[in-house]
Amino acid sequence: MQGRKILFGAAFSAPPHPARGGWRKRLPRSTLSPKGARADHLSTLAKGKIVDENTGNKLGRREFMGRAAAAAGFMIVAPQVVRGTAANSSLSVGMLGCGNRGTADSTYLIGTGKARLVALADLFQDKLDSSKAYFDNLQQKKGYAPIDRALMFRGPKAYEEIANAKDVDVILITTPPYFHPQHLAAAVAAGKHVYCEKPLAVDPQGCTWVLDSGRRAEGRLSLEVGFQLRNAPPLVEQVKRIHAGALGTIVSGEGHYYATWPNLPVWPKVSADERMIRNWYYSRILSGDILVEQDIHIIDVCNWILQAHPLKAQATGSRKGRPDSGDVYGHYSVVFYYPNSVSITFGSTQIGNAKWEVGWRFFGTEGISEAHYTGPVAIYGKNAWQWTGGQPTSPASTQQFSTSGVFSDNLTQADPAKKMSFVDSILSGNYHNQAAQGVESALSCMMARRSAYTGEEVGYEAIATSGEHWEDGIDLHQFT
Ligand SMILES: NC(=O)c1ccc[n+]([C@@H]2O[C@H](COP(=O)([O-])OP(=O)(O)OC[C@H]3O[C@@H](n4cnc5c(N)ncnc54)[C@H](O)[C@@H]3O)[C@@H](O)[C@H]2O)c1
Repeated sequence: MQGRKILFGAAFSAPPHPARGGWRKRLPRSTLSPKGARADHLSTLAKGKIVDENTGNKLGRREFMGRAAAAAGFMIVAPQVVRGTAANSSLSVGMLGCGNRGTADSTYLIGTGKARLVALADLFQDKLDSSKAYFDNLQQKKGYAPIDRALMFRGPKAYEEIANAKDVDVILITTPPYFHPQHLAAAVAAGKHVYCEKPLAVDPQGCTWVLDSGRRAEGRLSLEVGFQLRNAPPLVEQVKRIHAGALGTIVSGEGHYYATWPNLPVWPKVSADERMIRNWYYSRILSGDILVEQDIHIIDVCNWILQAHPLKAQATGSRKGRPDSGDVYGHYSVVFYYPNSVSITFGSTQIGNAKWEVGWRFFGTEGISEAHYTGPVAIYGKNAWQWTGGQPTSPASTQQFSTSGVFSDNLTQADPAKKMSFVDSILSGNYHNQAAQGVESALSCMMARRSAYTGEEVGYEAIATSGEHWEDGIDLHQFT
């Protein structure tokens, strides 16, 4: 693991930023004041200067933006202007990161009937080849042309090449989380709409760069973040009822993400760097650790329900029970302290292979809410309600499905609805900008992660302004 570093800002006795040729020097740490509700805390994020990669001189924001625009070849403009497309036409999508989630997200985007996959980018040729084979077959059935090999980009610069490909409207970012701020910045600089998977970053400094991309996209581009739970019809309906007061005054809650261990291929014949990237789920620096990479879905739901981010967190965790040689934790136990003295206990695992269970409950003066990925979505008490769409309706059958495990999944419609909402935002010109919301959830998790690593209680403002910066130490040019 030589060369992998986690650097902490002043709040955590920071060693200086290493002067290596990392990509992060190219990205701005600008002063931010994002628009939108609850974004006030974000304006206190670390303020900084951009460093010229060649000279080491500091650049002002205006100078940086001018250079970025010149490098991209044009200023940011809406793709329908660039490509002369009209509303209701089909969007051309470029997939950056041809792995499992990219395949799923692209398939859902194609499933909207309003988007085609036209370009691919990845570090590795085998991923490009398997994706082309899969999507050529899928899209042929719809009468779409095969993916043009001229729009297939491989290697460390592939993210820039796909971002600047002129026949692409939308960049789908499904690379490992560590790369998201860099890849997002390139896509936005090139004037492309973006669907970026969660988490938006692995460290607070990455969050600052993401917010900068959010500001640059504002009003011009849709910037969607992969929190599809927010579009799942059972959850949308339940949260609507909670926001209308169905629970009375919310006092406390609990959330859990009990997942199994991801048993990834061993990759015995590749270099240590390649193995780390292929198996990035085992790497703290590339994934952000399980709290930021996986559990974030539930923390995002808690923020959604409580319409706030936690103010502080106290957490613990360890690698106990993990057989892999990586460095991510196998479990976390967290107490999140939200405004109005609402406390949320959260537990997660990524060990064993016995059973998944993901869910959350909120306790209020007039009722209790309950939700699961698979299981009841309900409110008990004065304003009792149960999601019945596609699920058993009688109490008897409810009891039966709880014990038999035979029920429909509450997330079935989450991705299709999310993708439709995204493409419609582009085609209608009513652009989404979820950068600040996605950063808020990422920072909430980073705060708890920092608490678990140090044993100290950590506050939201402290993590947001920490300047904490993670550097993977991998020279991607070896994959040219
Ligand atoms: N929203 C969800 O429910 C959900 C579910 C699963 C994964 N995800 C997220 O999706 C993202 C991808 O996860 P995955 O399971 O598809 O991972 P994966 O390993 O299957 O795919 C990642 C792909 O990115 C490529 N890649 C790695 N580094 C690259 C680089 N620098 N440039 C270009 N390509 C690079 C890899 O070769 C690989 O093909 C992650 O952020 C993950 O957290 C979201």
